[in-house]
Amino acid sequence: MASNITWHPNLTHVERSELRNQKGVTVWLTGLSASGKSTIACALEQSILGRGLNCYRLDGDNVRFGLNKDLGFSENDRNENIRRISEVAKLFNDSCCITLTSFISPYQKDRQLARELHEKDNLPFVEVYVDVPVEVAETRDPKGLYKKAREGIIKEFTGISAPYEAPDKPEIHLKNYEGVSIEDAAQQIIDYLIKNNYV
Ligand code: PPS
Repeated sequence: MASNITWHPNLTHVERSELRNQKGVTVWLTGLSASGKSTIACALEQSILGRGLNCYRLDGDNVRFGLNKDLGFSENDRNENIRRISEVAKLFNDSCCITLTSFISPYQKDRQLARELHEKDNLPFVEVYVDVPVEVAETRDPKGLYKKAREGIIKEFTGISAPYEAPDKPEIHLKNYEGVSIEDAAQQIIDYLIKNNYV
């Protein structure tokens, strides 16, 4: 961190939420490539926007076109990817936005950092494990990435040649296979948000 910088006090999140009449929350989706994170987040975004609430989705592939275009898929780069996204999500959340993130975020310690950054500022954080066995994700393979990983064309591919550490105690554990539809999966998250007064 640079020296000679000064934090400017701002409205608290509670004060801002009251003025804005909406609470912020970060819904952090984690799971393998092809587990359905982005598709579920898209369905959720539509549903929440349709209720007249502010909502925004930060997506793994998309963010790597801009903010994180200097990062690859080594462990260090993934750590930095998730650190930056955690900070960005926190800002969106603080602005009273329902903030959806869909990143593989394979390392437990990175997701823990995301949670701690939020909790330090009393900003709600909901971890959603989009659980699909690697064999199922590999069968889906919509982008052909698992095939390339098996052929050794893509290195350090999550689930094949790089680790995925499943969450121990996510707020929501979605089993997104064996006939579960995207609508069902998104609805489970909406139900949680309603129950906890975020929606
Ligand atoms: S991470 O691990 O959280 O930093 O990854 P993320 O930013 O979510 O980016 C994942 C998307 O990048 C594509 N891709 C890869 N994924 C995993 N491992 C490797 N080596 C890799 N190379 C490219 C892939 O499209 C991922 O998107 P999803 O939507 O998860 O399939």
